[in-house]
Amino acid sequence: MKYAQITGWGKCIPPASITNDEISQIVETNDEWISTRTGIRARRVSHVSTAELATVAAQNALDCAGLEGKDVDLVLLATCTPSTMVANTASLVQKNIGAVGAAACDTNAACSGFLYAMQLATAQIRTGMIKRAVVIAAERMTWYVNWAKRDSAVLFGDGAGAVVLEASDEPSGLLASKIGCDTEDRNILHIANCGTDLNKYEPIGPSDLMFEGREIFKRAVKGMSQACDDVLSQAQLSLEDIDVLVPHQANLRIIQAIQQKLNIEDEKVMVNIDKYGNTSAATIAIALCEAVENGLIKPESNIMSAAFGAGLTWAASYIKW
Ligand code: ACO
Repeated sequence: MKYAQITGWGKCIPPASITNDEISQIVETNDEWISTRTGIRARRVSHVSTAELATVAAQNALDCAGLEGKDVDLVLLATCTPSTMVANTASLVQKNIGAVGAAACDTNAACSGFLYAMQLATAQIRTGMIKRAVVIAAERMTWYVNWAKRDSAVLFGDGAGAVVLEASDEPSGLLASKIGCDTEDRNILHIANCGTDLNKYEPIGPSDLMFEGREIFKRAVKGMSQACDDVLSQAQLSLEDIDVLVPHQANLRIIQAIQQKLNIEDEKVMVNIDKYGNTSAATIAIALCEAVENGLIKPESNIMSAAFGAGLTWAASYIKW
């Protein structure tokens, strides 16, 4: 059986940044509250579509792998903020990168989406159904943000990241992974006024991100730590074997709580929430790229990654770089 080696990676970071001081001119908040409660200092706001963010990240990943779009069999896009619902957003990306004839599919598992997509694409490569895939996570979270509400306005940002997976005999890529969903109380995190459950003959209010922060905080720490333990046992590894932790970036204090539970040193943890806020599915894809750029991830690094999001979905993966 083949492995699904990661041979390319890329990201797309929108140039426009909004700092905490700038946000405090729009809503009643301040840099001190935001940075101590969340670790966020700025977030990026995209003026282009989710498909365009995804296209740039995918193209950068293909360039890194030395491939062209026509070489891939599957374009899999994790997003909960698609450019269009029908046709799917992945089909736009497929067209833009010239992946003629490749399968193109969106997957929505909110903030856990990238690890879900990695597992789905890896399984197809490992079973021999396809040879190459580009797995992308792209989000335009700020499109849904109600800038008048300070609780959500400060948390979210836009961006995209992508990896290229190729069939290989080299034991690397996603080597163990668990994805799941705990649907009890799924309404503690959702986007209101969005979707076909609405009565289309009645006026619809603006879409709005709704969440119970404290409850999600507790569940995210518990869910991600448990998922990491499960994946370690699936991979028959212990925490000492892990070189780098790449967690979903929703709140610095959530990351620190997981780190404490798993007993992982600061130097091994990838954090970039200060620059980008929560970009939902894209946080891990972007963080992987930046961890390579800054030397935290090296060839053959053992990486643990974990995510938690609306659903309530959760995921953890052991990746050998
Ligand atoms: N600026 C100033 N004050 C604020 C702000 C703000 N931006 N937002 C809320 N407050 C106020 C509240 O009104 C409240 O005031 P009150 O005590 O007078 O009622 C006070 O701050 C405390 O609010 P809490 O919600 O209790 O603050 P908490 O310390 O829990 O932090 C936060 C809130 C940052 C949302 C935290 O709960 C969190 O990070 N939760 C998990 C992340 C999350 O829910 N993300 C949504 C996406 S899900 C995901 O990505 C996994």
